[in-house]
Amino acid sequence: MKKILLGMVAFSIIASAAPFNAEVQTYVDGLKTETKKSNSGFVDFDIARGEQIFTSTHIGKKGTKIACTTCHTANLTANGKNDHTGKVIDPLAPSANSARLTNVKDLKKWLRRNFNDVYNREGSAQEKGDVLYYINSKSKGN
Ligand code: HEC
Repeated sequence: MKKILLGMVAFSIIASAAPFNAEVQTYVDGLKTETKKSNSGFVDFDIARGEQIFTSTHIGKKGTKIACTTCHTANLTANGKNDHTGKVIDPLAPSANSARLTNVKDLKKWLRRNFNDVYNREGSAQEKGDVLYYINSKSKGN
């Protein structure tokens, strides 16, 4: 048991993603449970899939090409700019903005709205989990 725990600690240091707070971890666990219902082979969310979700371009709600990076840029530790309103958006990565990924109510609201903007539909539980792992994995300078 001790060895397994040490292994997990070592892994999270290598992956350099900070753990979610308790509230967000509960939300993420719920997304896992929901994903398993439709995908029995599912093990865990995946940063590489999340990157694909975040950086790929789609025909969005407005009928024009858009990606998550259109507003948030590909550098998650830098400011973004809202493509619709022109307003500055603070960095999305918790490593650069400690308020990020801390409030489930905000997370749910923005994931619903932003998936609709880009994918013209709500994200699945798996897509939401993958993209949260990706955002959380971004450390300063990458
Ligand atoms: C049209 C512009 C736009 C697009 C496109 C967009 N976002 Fe956002 N996003 C915003 C704005 C505006 C906010 C809220 C402003 C803020 O919190 O600074 C936000 C907030 C968020 C948050 C909340 C983070 C937190 O904890 O506060 C997440 C997560 C997020 N976006 C993910 C995504 C993902 C994933 C996509 C692609 C599916 C995406 N966004 C596409 C504009 C956008």
